[in-house]
Amino acid sequence: MVRIITFASGKGGVGKTTLVANLGIALKQMNEKVLLIDADVSMANLSLILGMESSPITINDVLRGEANIEDVIYKGPGGVDVIPASLSLQNFQALDLSKIPQIVKKLTYNYNFIILDCAAGIGEDTLAAMAAATEVFIVINPYSLSIADALKTKIMAQKINAKPVGIIVNMVGHYRGEIKEEDIVKMMELPSYGMIPFDEVVRENFYYKQIVPIIIKNPNIPASLAIKNIAKRLLGKEVVIQTEKKGFFAWLKSIFGK
Ligand SMILES: Nc1ncnc2c1ncn2[C@@H]1O[C@H](COP(=O)(O)OP(=O)(O)OP(=O)(O)O)[C@@H](O)[C@H]1O
Ligand SMILES: [Mg+2]
Repeated sequence: MVRIITFASGKGGVGKTTLVANLGIALKQMNEKVLLIDADVSMANLSLILGMESSPITINDVLRGEANIEDVIYKGPGGVDVIPASLSLQNFQALDLSKIPQIVKKLTYNYNFIILDCAAGIGEDTLAAMAAATEVFIVINPYSLSIADALKTKIMAQKINAKPVGIIVNMVGHYRGEIKEEDIVKMMELPSYGMIPFDEVVRENFYYKQIVPIIIKNPNIPASLAIKNIAKRLLGKEVVIQTEKKGFFAWLKSIFGK
């Protein structure tokens, strides 16, 4: 059965788009049929990270009712299928974001994994992308405000009957006094599907004119290896669920939940 996975976050810039692009390719390398969708229609980045910025028609045209979804599926690096969003500001007008779940449903029969990249926070486009998913993962950087905002996103997901199932901790080793994975798991009450270290190579990948995803260009750096491990876990390795409510985050949760 197809798995429709949306990677959301609280804070922006935590690494969702980087993860979606590289994880999708990693799953494809493991012989899965993969479609990546840029559902961050206001600040589209997925096509940039995949080096596909010149796609002539995009999901924006579909959401405006001017193209069919089948017409905006492109072949991306590593053989993944990709539905990009438009980079142009003009193209952001008159989009019916509520169509995202029904668009995704139309494509389920061709893939094992449909992975959606979405905007930070809990705006209309993020909610539509979470509603479309069978599983929502929350990407977190290991410091308190990133976790607090991730918690808010998780609660919002539950309020709209989306299904938060796990977290990914990204940019580990970058923050002073960072919070340990096991503590983030307790605060979020969601299992971790993996940690990705902060890696300068990932950040510097944007300095190049033609971007090649790191999982292809640098398959053996620690960040790429961590992403491959996440792909393996998604494919069925057991994940231990730990839950414990206490302290500051239990209090925050009670506030956000009101
Ligand atoms: N593990 C990592 N190590 C170092 N840099 C990283 C890592 N993951 C992502 N980055 C960098 O962080 C920046 C933000 O990443 P990305 O655009 O993927 O985040 P995002 O969550 O999609 O952001 P937004 O909320 O704006 O959509 C990029 O420059 C990216 O290269
Ligand atoms: Mg992004």
